[in-house]
Amino acid sequence: MKLTHITVALSLAYGAVGQVFNPFTDSNGIDFWQATWNTKVKGTKGEAQWGIALPPASETGLKNEYIGRLVVPKTNSGTWMGLSHASEMTSALLLITWLDGDEVKTSFRYATGYVAPEIYTGNATLSVISQSSNKTHYELTYLCEGCWSWEQDGVIGSQVPATTASAAQIMGWAQATSAPTNPGDADADIKQHANDGLFGAVVASARNSAYTKWTSLATATAGTPAATPTGNSTGHASATGAPSSAVPSATGAACPRSNPVTNQTWDYIIVGAGAGGIPLADKLSESGKSVLLIERGPPSSGRWGGTMKPDWLVGTNLTRFDVPGLDNQIWADSAGIACTDIGVMAGCVLGGGTAVNAGLWWRANPDDFDYNFPAGWKAADVEPAVARVFDRIPFTERPSMDGVLYKPEGYNVVAGALAAAGWQNVSADGVPARKNFTFSHPDHMFSGGERGGPLATYLVTASERKNFKLITNTSVNRVIRSGGKITGVEIKAFLKGGQCGTVKVKSTGKVILSAGAFGTPKILFRSGIGPQDQLEIVKKAEPTKMVNSAQWINLPVGDNLDDHVNTDIVITHPNVSFYDFYKAYDHPIKADKESYLEDRSGILAQSAPNLATVFWHEIEGDDGITRQLQWTARVEGSHVISSKKAMTISQYLGRGATSRGRTTINAALNMVVSKPPYLHNKHDVAAVAAGIETLRNSLSYDPAIEIVYPPKNQTTAKFLASYPLTTSYRSANHWMGSCKMGLDSGLRNEGTSVVDTNAKVYGTDNLFIVDASIFPGMVSTNPSALIVAAAEHASQLILGLANNSSAPVPVSSSRALSSSAHTVAWSSFETASSSSMAGRSSAVPANSTVVGPTGTGLPTSGSPIATASSPSTNGGVQPLSMRAELKHALGES
Ligand SMILES: Cc1cc2nc3c(=O)[nH]c(=O)nc-3n(C[C@H](O)[C@H](O)[C@H](O)COP(=O)(O)OP(=O)(O)OC[C@H]3O[C@@H](n4cnc5c(N)ncnc54)[C@H](O)[C@@H]3O)c2cc1C
Ligand SMILES: *[C@@H]1O[C@H](CO)[C@@H](O)[C@H](O)[C@H]1NC(C)=O
Ligand SMILES: *[C@@H]1O[C@H](CO)[C@@H](O)[C@H](O)[C@H]1NC(C)=O
Ligand SMILES: *[C@@H]1O[C@H](CO)[C@@H](O)[C@H](O)[C@H]1NC(C)=O
Ligand SMILES: *[C@@H]1O[C@H](CO)[C@@H](O)[C@H](O)[C@H]1NC(C)=O
Ligand SMILES: *[C@@H]1O[C@H](CO)[C@@H](O)[C@H](O)[C@H]1NC(C)=O
Repeated sequence: MKLTHITVALSLAYGAVGQVFNPFTDSNGIDFWQATWNTKVKGTKGEAQWGIALPPASETGLKNEYIGRLVVPKTNSGTWMGLSHASEMTSALLLITWLDGDEVKTSFRYATGYVAPEIYTGNATLSVISQSSNKTHYELTYLCEGCWSWEQDGVIGSQVPATTASAAQIMGWAQATSAPTNPGDADADIKQHANDGLFGAVVASARNSAYTKWTSLATATAGTPAATPTGNSTGHASATGAPSSAVPSATGAACPRSNPVTNQTWDYIIVGAGAGGIPLADKLSESGKSVLLIERGPPSSGRWGGTMKPDWLVGTNLTRFDVPGLDNQIWADSAGIACTDIGVMAGCVLGGGTAVNAGLWWRANPDDFDYNFPAGWKAADVEPAVARVFDRIPFTERPSMDGVLYKPEGYNVVAGALAAAGWQNVSADGVPARKNFTFSHPDHMFSGGERGGPLATYLVTASERKNFKLITNTSVNRVIRSGGKITGVEIKAFLKGGQCGTVKVKSTGKVILSAGAFGTPKILFRSGIGPQDQLEIVKKAEPTKMVNSAQWINLPVGDNLDDHVNTDIVITHPNVSFYDFYKAYDHPIKADKESYLEDRSGILAQSAPNLATVFWHEIEGDDGITRQLQWTARVEGSHVISSKKAMTISQYLGRGATSRGRTTINAALNMVVSKPPYLHNKHDVAAVAAGIETLRNSLSYDPAIEIVYPPKNQTTAKFLASYPLTTSYRSANHWMGSCKMGLDSGLRNEGTSVVDTNAKVYGTDNLFIVDASIFPGMVSTNPSALIVAAAEHASQLILGLANNSSAPVPVSSSRALSSSAHTVAWSSFETASSSSMAGRSSAVPANSTVVGPTGTGLPTSGSPIATASSPSTNGGVQPLSMRAELKHALGES
């Protein structure tokens, strides 16, 4: 399995400007429908091209193939270019191309999640028609058979060209600034790409009755054997689904001989050491009861034995996780850190999100609890827990130990305009309820110039107790249960040093899942707890392990998925300048490195990528609901803007938004966002639009600020209409809600809740959930401090329960199941990009297309990110997608 990512776009946002397709006849006489675009990858000389030729719609036997022509601009440092046969980089057939000397190499790949693509093992076959290379470009014309449908590890997907007039094939592209290390090897490892984007080719324009004649060229040129339906042809530049040792991403490591935790029976077993699990483990262990905390990932911070670090940190007690200025490295290189079984970014290391995030740390706005949560979890109930969190982990606005704020121009520019427009300057964590027309410096959990947070506080005190034990590199597959009574958990070594077997809880004991908004639902599904359609998928995937269907507990696990909706604008101002935190990872500026290592001072003690002003605005909708907006400004371009004087200002639509999504499991047991939670109704859209209008107006108070995205002459309505609703464009990495807390038990028809107000899973005696999953709705701010507060509060409730299991709730089988209850309207067809995309707004001409760039610009907590999820078609659910969205834009409904 290859472990280098291509799913993430790195650093500055460059992107193609919207491409237009035109007719083009190549030297072989093949008529292509072809796009030309600038990949904006550093060092490229000239533009890229991709053309497509398709058989007539009547040739139904040929509907799974096409002839392609790819022209790739070279860079001095080498390159590769990949094409995705769908509009996202994950869960789709990828064709990767590069040069080995003068020869064009090709390889089919497939990525399950936010991880490196594996060698594709399905049926696709590539035959060369012609190939060439000159000083500036390489060119490949190829026949791709079996390329519009794919299957990897039982997960299927497809984008078979439609026969309607205006249907478009949406393709993703990605280009890198380095060649594979072993270019001669068809299975060569590839390094993450530098930029990516999407385009859509109108199918009808690519069809040609001469198609079959052209396919015969595939055998005649380039000395390549005729295409064979399966197996790998080995002529140069051929790629096929080679049978390979590709294994599902989370198969794990070998089991060690001795398992020191399986010989003990525990009072509490907590699964997942992130924002929820770590504080909970500390609080429960204070009681003297035995607590086992099981984390799938490896140690992160140097404090816990972590080792991942650049050379300049060798010899210190720090890793990449400990230095605030390196936090954005997660977007450049997440191998061995990001979860391999989740289609969006999540940290699978000790600390979870709190090890990889930007450390923004916000005292809860009381409205967040009052509006979202049931009785017992209102702001007044939770306030003591919030206070305890901030006693242990205070916030700072000046993370550098010398008290200086470095490169403050970005803050000054945005705050200056807002102040002039009448917004109030606050220290946000001092006045958490003031979230309307207020702005603040970013508040962070950093301490001592290092990351700090739960890893440096709660986990330290827990670890000092004899009754507490932490094991890492160990994954929990499922809970073991008899009806609603949990007796233990099944563990599996995830990495070397992890453990295997069954760990038991006492008869009075409790198991608490804190594996995150995707990890927790996955464990529930594999334990026979969830909607029937999901349990059926697991049963098919691991029939001998799955609990008997008579014992299934049907709850709406995975529904109610939520995230902040991210919408970016980009400005420029002469006073700001970009600081290259990405470069600082390997090549920090000497003075900045020394100041950090000697005194924990300087810009590297601050969060990348220079987070500037954070501000809030409330908008009351026509439906009477007040919606919360948070904006986070950073000094970094995105979308098509690469100016060093650019700032990206990301709007998050939070509390009050009523749109929700869904996460599901696929046949390879990976979690996907099968329905993104973004803007499903007009009131949510109206709030986003009103926020942008207000900001456009407020920023006009500084005439030196130029809003470059959206373009000046574009209306906000038009801008939003063309802004994709996929996770790659809209995620803020603030996933929550997939196991909602509430009084309406999901065991009953129409019931929506998975846990009760003790955080106990309905229908079970002693299974609890304490992590982002239980939040019924989105909050005002980046959520980690609120999740820690929820863990503090839940710990009191759990400790307060009688040791005997509480009265069993009868398991009802009456809940309506079936996928129809969960019809997926939108799947997240995404690009591998990061922040999204821009130019597409303006583009989309009537008969050609578009879609450019993706910026990236890595977010703080986030902006949009790369990758993601699921075109897979399982559970009988046929996802639509961005394809549908673009087709709509193209005039087809
Ligand atoms: C890149 C990024 C930047 C962010 N920036 C910010 C920010 O600046 N401020 C902020 O407030 N929030 C931020 N967030 C969000 C915040 O970090 C998350 O909301 C929070 O960490 C979620 O907490 P959790 O306990 O639900 O899950 P997590 O913190 O994700 O913890 C879950 C843990 O469970 C483990 N796990 C999963 N499955 C298993 C299993 N089967 N067995 C054992 N262990 C398992 C995982 O490895 C992980 O360690 C960011 C998130 C990301 C990804
Ligand atoms: C190199 O190849 C590209 C792509 O085919 C072509 O556009 C370009 O003109 C060629 N350059 C030269 C110098 O022939
Ligand atoms: C691959 O080929 C097999 C055998 O012909 C067929 O059953 C399967 O559906 C094909 N898979 C795809 C994704 O086309
Ligand atoms: C396919 O490629 C693999 C890996 O390169 C090789 O081991 C195998 O022999 C090839 N199979 C065929 C049929 O050429
Ligand atoms: C379990 O095994 C470990 C390692 O073999 C040992 O240190 C520990 O004391 C044992 N615990 C119990 C309760 O037997
Ligand atoms: C590193 O060592 C310093 C000095 O002893 C200490 O203050 C800091 O907390 C340590 N950091 C980590 C991550 O271990």
